[in-house]
Amino acid sequence: MTAPPPNSASPKRWTRRHLLGLQDLSADEITIILDEAARYKEQWNAGETKFDDLRGIAVANLFFEPSTRTKTSFSLAAKRLSADTVDFTASTSSLSKGETFIDTALNIQAMGVHQMVVRHSTSGAPEQLAREVQCSIINAGDGTHEHPTQGLLDIFTIRSKRQSLQGLTVALVGDIKHSRVARSNIWGLTKLGAKVIVCGPPTLMPVGIEDLGVEVAHRLDDVLERCDCINLLRVQFERQRGAYFPSVREYAHLYGMNGVRMKKARPDVLILAPGPINRGVEITPDVADGKNSVILDQVTNGLFIRMACLALLRRATEVVREETR
Ligand code: CP
Repeated sequence: MTAPPPNSASPKRWTRRHLLGLQDLSADEITIILDEAARYKEQWNAGETKFDDLRGIAVANLFFEPSTRTKTSFSLAAKRLSADTVDFTASTSSLSKGETFIDTALNIQAMGVHQMVVRHSTSGAPEQLAREVQCSIINAGDGTHEHPTQGLLDIFTIRSKRQSLQGLTVALVGDIKHSRVARSNIWGLTKLGAKVIVCGPPTLMPVGIEDLGVEVAHRLDDVLERCDCINLLRVQFERQRGAYFPSVREYAHLYGMNGVRMKKARPDVLILAPGPINRGVEITPDVADGKNSVILDQVTNGLFIRMACLALLRRATEVVREETR
């Protein structure tokens, strides 16, 4: 994929102060982020490893849930853009003394933080914060609602391999009910012209999901051959209340991507997974590490997507300040 030259992309510029989800974004806005990420990737691959976009800016990672990829990736992205960064860890914070989520954020803002990257178990928590603070808020995953930068990096990875999303068939397989990644993928992929199939046990399929413009399937073997890309979602045991399927073994048998299913799939099918992956449940090791897997490309691309988001939000707030002076 070749990135467009600077300033020649869509004439519509990025104007938002927050990134809360892909549901509200237009196809043009999503494309602006993807193109910006492609420019960073191209410059990075040409040997440019440090950028000045966030010099003098402080970025706080506020993670109230565990994370490996998203937290590390945002932290590195901010550093590559020359920001000062601070990582907040909920378990060792004054939350344990009764301080509220909002008070915690207001106190961190009072230290001169400009951008907050927020992960929370409650759907809507980043949106609530965006109403209370002056800094830019980026949703790094809220409850079962959205994980916009994961959706963007999944889409970016597919676009990098296939040039365009238009007309591609992408299956999201597994625990759709509890997956914020599924929702962000659905919004983003459908806006960019892909066909989305959601596939999983009926008990893990949200009521009314068809209204989002997706096809619903309950047998992976029925849709396998039609897919250009298969995104294998983790079964989110930590969000489940009760038993949604008889056993992990049965789940793996019906919905796990394995060597037998790979033989039935298209030879060039892209295998994605947001991670963390449960080897032997939603994906077997031979598939996770196989030639069709782009799982680690997703992780690499996540950095460029997060650099793009941080930089675009910063530029948008700068423009607002200039215009209100
Ligand atoms: N995909 C993802 O959000 O991974 P982490 O939970 O490790 O951030």
